[in-house]
Amino acid sequence: MSDFIAIDGPAGSGKSSVSKAVARSRGYGYLDTGAAYRALAWHVLDRGADTDDADAVLAAASDFDLRLGLDPDDRTVAVGESDITTAIRDPRVSDAVSGVARVPAVREQVNIFFRSLVAAAPYPAVVVEGRDITTVVAPDAPVRILLTAAPEVRAARRAGELAGENAAVVAEALHKRDASDSAVVDFLNAAEGVEVVDSTELDFPQTIDAVLAVIERKQ
Ligand code: C5P
Repeated sequence: MSDFIAIDGPAGSGKSSVSKAVARSRGYGYLDTGAAYRALAWHVLDRGADTDDADAVLAAASDFDLRLGLDPDDRTVAVGESDITTAIRDPRVSDAVSGVARVPAVREQVNIFFRSLVAAAPYPAVVVEGRDITTVVAPDAPVRILLTAAPEVRAARRAGELAGENAAVVAEALHKRDASDSAVVDFLNAAEGVEVVDSTELDFPQTIDAVLAVIERKQ
């Protein structure tokens, strides 16, 4: 049974790249829970269904063959035989994913999937990143971290990742997604016992070190 290293945070906080680097440096597994929600949003769109229609989302979720591994060096995401590793990062998926993630029965179903993946993981621990890992998926995890950064810093980082996209458009989309996501789970404020790592003034290696320091202290 692997331990959860639970890391939550808003879009553009750097949690994916930091979580992956932390997993690599410790020889842990890595689970990107946002990728599962994105894959489901892709699957709903692929069926031509409406991602804001809870019944259509549930129907898609009951016929959802998601393949998502825990190797931090292999981020392949597939649904059935379709490799959607790149497609789930498309703006059309980013814009649709909050609708899918807001359906409570969907959240319960994916949470069971996440817990079973970690339970069967061939690693001493798995770094699990998302929005509700510290509070809902693994509230008893030995290490629980909220990774934050100022909104303008997050928008600038995300615009840098999406080369060619207009920075103001990226900031607006990020703000919209955070607003609708935070109506479902509060990932902007740390729950009791959750350690905050604010990366506003930190570069990437410093953020990794700050997270590793929390892990060393808590484990
Ligand atoms: O982390 P990422 O930005 O890829 O997550 C994509 C979307 O998945 C979020 O905007 C949110 O709607 C949803 N999500 C969630 N709970 C999680 C992880 C992601 O609702 N634990």
